[in-house]
Amino acid sequence: MTEATNILAIETSCDETAAAVVSGGREVLSSVVASQVDLHARYGGVVPEVASRAHLESINAIIQKAMSDSGLKPKDISAVAVTREPGLVGSLLVGMMAAKTLAWVWRVPLIGVNHVYAHAYSAALDAEAIEYSAVALICSGGHTALYKCDSPVEMELLGATIDDAAGEAFDKVAGILKLGFPGGPAIERAARDGEARAVDFPRPLLGGNSLDFSFSGLKTAVLYHVNGVPGAHRKKANSPRPVGIENFTQKQVADAAAGFQAAVVDVLACKLRRAAELVRPRSLIIGGGVSANEALRTAAGKIAEKTGCALRLPQMRFTIDNAAMVAGLAWHHLRAGKTDTLDIEVTPTVRR
Ligand code: KG4
Ligand code: ZN
Repeated sequence: MTEATNILAIETSCDETAAAVVSGGREVLSSVVASQVDLHARYGGVVPEVASRAHLESINAIIQKAMSDSGLKPKDISAVAVTREPGLVGSLLVGMMAAKTLAWVWRVPLIGVNHVYAHAYSAALDAEAIEYSAVALICSGGHTALYKCDSPVEMELLGATIDDAAGEAFDKVAGILKLGFPGGPAIERAARDGEARAVDFPRPLLGGNSLDFSFSGLKTAVLYHVNGVPGAHRKKANSPRPVGIENFTQKQVADAAAGFQAAVVDVLACKLRRAAELVRPRSLIIGGGVSANEALRTAAGKIAEKTGCALRLPQMRFTIDNAAMVAGLAWHHLRAGKTDTLDIEVTPTVRR
């Protein structure tokens, strides 16, 4: 194996069918992502059965495009990597079968990769190598967790959400505010015209030293802000009557979006700072779909400055699910001699 070793990776853990070729762990030769977002938009969330069928329909074409965009031939590929955990089991299986088939036909090693660890590596793609140790905050539609990382493959869980993921809260609150799916970008857009101070939403789990997160109460607070606390106006004469989103002005929607976004960012930033002060790492890493959020990026920048850490943010195209981060991380597995046999299985949930 050399610095220029090329790895083809496949990622199908949720609703993006992705394939990529990465050289030497960081140079992205191709990265193809087919989003299913339009398919799931009408349901306001990802429907697992619909997702796995869609992966099946597009996977071969996506792999072919990743290979042709890279300009490489199969003989130039040294290993095939794949997301093996965590994710929707039917979706993971589609990618896993494709990866096993290619590894077998091309007679190269198979490398199974953890999707969340791959998000924590995405800041190294088409960029400088990350300096370790690091604290990584991964926040996406399926995960919100903090890790201490001693290298790309040595991750220790410091804290995680005890209910909803941050991106999931963005998606659900966007549903309540009738802003569309996926919620993160829609809320960020709406929040630009709003005032965060106009609505004071709770900041859950900020007390003590906890590094865990909770977003489900915050989501309920938005629901009550829009629809009223169930039955409250009947019990107390001065409680406002339920309003309903259809009676909200555009400004009220924008204020609610801004207030919600500020609450999520405050919580994420507070925990990131707490973890940075505990671990005293060289780098702070943010990854996952929510790391595209400008307010979060700004807040993380301030924490990096205060704690003297280097801030490592993924390029926008590597914030959402992609296979380049899987190929990049797999290079470190290969370098450490960690390859898998063709009988590995997918795992839907992992907490470690
Ligand atoms: O990493 P990702 O593509 O998928 C998972 O692994 O879950 O993350 C998707 C999530 C969605 O919940 C989406 O609403 C959120 O990331 N997201 C954002 C933004 N862009 C995407 N959340 C906040 N602000 C954004 N700009
Ligand atoms: Zn993800």
